[in-house]
Amino acid sequence: MRVLLTGGAGFIGHHTFEHFMKNTEDTVIILEGLNYAGSLSRLTDIELFHQWQDLGRVIIVPHNIQFPFNEYVTHKIGSVDAIIHMAAETHVDRSIENPYPFVMTNLLGTFNVLEFARSQIATGLKRFIQVSTDEVYGPALTDEFFKETDRVRPSNPYAATKAGADDLVYSYFKTYGLPAIVTRTMNNFGERQHPEKFLMLTLKALMRNEQVVVHGTPGNIGMRHWLHARNHADAILFLIAHGNNGEFYHIVGDELSNLELADLVASIVHKSLKPKFVDFHACRPGHDRRYAMSDTNLRALGWKPPLSLEESLAKTIQWTLNRPEWLFM
Ligand SMILES: NC(=O)c1ccc[n+]([C@@H]2O[C@H](COP(=O)([O-])OP(=O)(O)OC[C@H]3O[C@@H](n4cnc5c(N)ncnc54)[C@H](O)[C@@H]3O)[C@@H](O)[C@H]2O)c1
Repeated sequence: MRVLLTGGAGFIGHHTFEHFMKNTEDTVIILEGLNYAGSLSRLTDIELFHQWQDLGRVIIVPHNIQFPFNEYVTHKIGSVDAIIHMAAETHVDRSIENPYPFVMTNLLGTFNVLEFARSQIATGLKRFIQVSTDEVYGPALTDEFFKETDRVRPSNPYAATKAGADDLVYSYFKTYGLPAIVTRTMNNFGERQHPEKFLMLTLKALMRNEQVVVHGTPGNIGMRHWLHARNHADAILFLIAHGNNGEFYHIVGDELSNLELADLVASIVHKSLKPKFVDFHACRPGHDRRYAMSDTNLRALGWKPPLSLEESLAKTIQWTLNRPEWLFM
């Protein structure tokens, strides 16, 4: 297949690229606007990258999706069998400080990607995957797990723009017959992650024997599902083959509190954890204490994550300690 991957130089994007290269014979066309979170070094750092490029299996198309695809961009992309739309503004704090680029990229940008996708229906586009987030649902109560059919109630501008984009994608399925699927995931981790993320901050603090900042108060700590980005990529690949158009799928990992995750990291690197509790959720509107989703639809199709949380966490930590330039960049 020829697969268009938007945001392929981002964190999840580059893992998806690598997973597709290793597990298919597809050509992947990476559409990238390279904002502060995107880096081509993520791609070139992959051992076989240049080999795949020499085989003509990688095409990189520079483009900011806030603008319609012009003739140069559509010509460079050519016709595609599948589109995985990951390009987005993704950092909640930044969306609270300035929602403008979130509206422009996540809403208008998704519209531009959808218009390109619509033009590909006649030439045989088989799948459009909109990669979205748990945050669209807002906070989950203790013991509550959002289902794929639940209503959305985003708490911050990032989540709201993703929810709006998801609706737009669904409308293209209903109106134009776009073969679209919406996936929602949560707290992916893995190699070459941005150092501003919790796992990387925790690892860095532990290696420096510093206190680890944990959001919450003892007994009321932030909860998330944790999943390696390669497991996420595996689910996307699975859904391209087995998903049903017009469906929503949750791609989730194991649920741990931030303290439990920090404890697990500390045990892997043989350090003692000194947590510093910060009641972040009380003082920062827009931040939700707990996100939780059930992955009933995806499990019903028979997908299981290839690697356990412990195994993938240990591998990521070992890799990062061997490649500290990614931790301290
Ligand atoms: N990381 C997570 O745990 C997580 C959880 C839920 C959902 N998601 C979703 O997964 C997707 C990927 O997330 P990520 O963590 O890899 O994000 P990221 O910020 O690491 O990567 C986003 C990529 O999109 C590109 N991009 C941003 N604006 C663009 C524009 N206007 N035009 C073209 N390219 C642009 C960036 O250059 C970057 O490479 C996003 O859609 C995000 O909403 C991520």
